Amino acid sequence: MRRAKVEDAAAIDKMTVECFGDSYLSVKEITDYILDDWNRLYVEEDEKGLAGAILFLREDKSLFLEDMEIDSDDYDRLSRGKAVLHHKFSVIRDDLRGKGLMTGMLNDALSEAEKDGKYGVLFTQGWIQPDGTVPMEGIFDRAGYVKYKRQKSPWYKPKFFDKTCVLCGGRCKCDAMVYYREL
Ligand SMILES: CC(C)(COP(=O)(O)OP(=O)(O)OC[C@H]1O[C@@H](n2cnc3c(N)ncnc32)[C@H](O)[C@@H]1OP(=O)(O)O)[C@@H](O)C(=O)NCCC(=O)NCCS
Repeated sequence: MRRAKVEDAAAIDKMTVECFGDSYLSVKEITDYILDDWNRLYVEEDEKGLAGAILFLREDKSLFLEDMEIDSDDYDRLSRGKAVLHHKFSVIRDDLRGKGLMTGMLNDALSEAEKDGKYGVLFTQGWIQPDGTVPMEGIFDRAGYVKYKRQKSPWYKPKFFDKTCVLCGGRCKCDAMVYYREL
């Protein structure tokens, strides 16, 4: 696993669009994330190209309160005055799934964030698919993520009106489980 470079942005964009839906992120947004050193975007490669990617994005308190409905006092307590990361996505190429790749990538990404010492906590929204499955549930459990609250259709908000979901076939009505992981 290595930090993503600008030249990886197009392949990462393609994989996230296939996994989540059209216009999930743009190549420009991914490029900007790579260029900001507070963020942590990692990739794994093999002979076929991109094997997987994981993004920890540094965001401001206001976004966590608004998008993940984190309580302000909980945010302050968990962040301990340090920067806070949004674990935004985790993707593995479909022919490589179920072999422990993401479990290993997440473990390494968390170790690096802990070693950095400048981050207090990360929050994430585990995707709850319409049939009730949470693809990352076992992986989050193994990595020490703590369940915080369930959200009803957080990506249906007007600000995400242009994002489509591969499973909903239009604006995303899926629920999310918010987790945190202290760093
Ligand atoms: C979710 C994903 C990143 C897991 O990567 P991986 O390398 O296959 O993960 P691992 O081999 O380390 O672990 C496999 C686990 O994922 C679970 N999983 C993967 N896809 C799943 C799905 N669609 N529904 C339910 N569970 C799923 C497996 O059941 C297994 O669970 P366990 O750890 O409790 O046994 C990968 O399947 C993927 O890219 N999926 C599409 C994108 C996605 O859903 N990302 C997560 C959004 S929150």
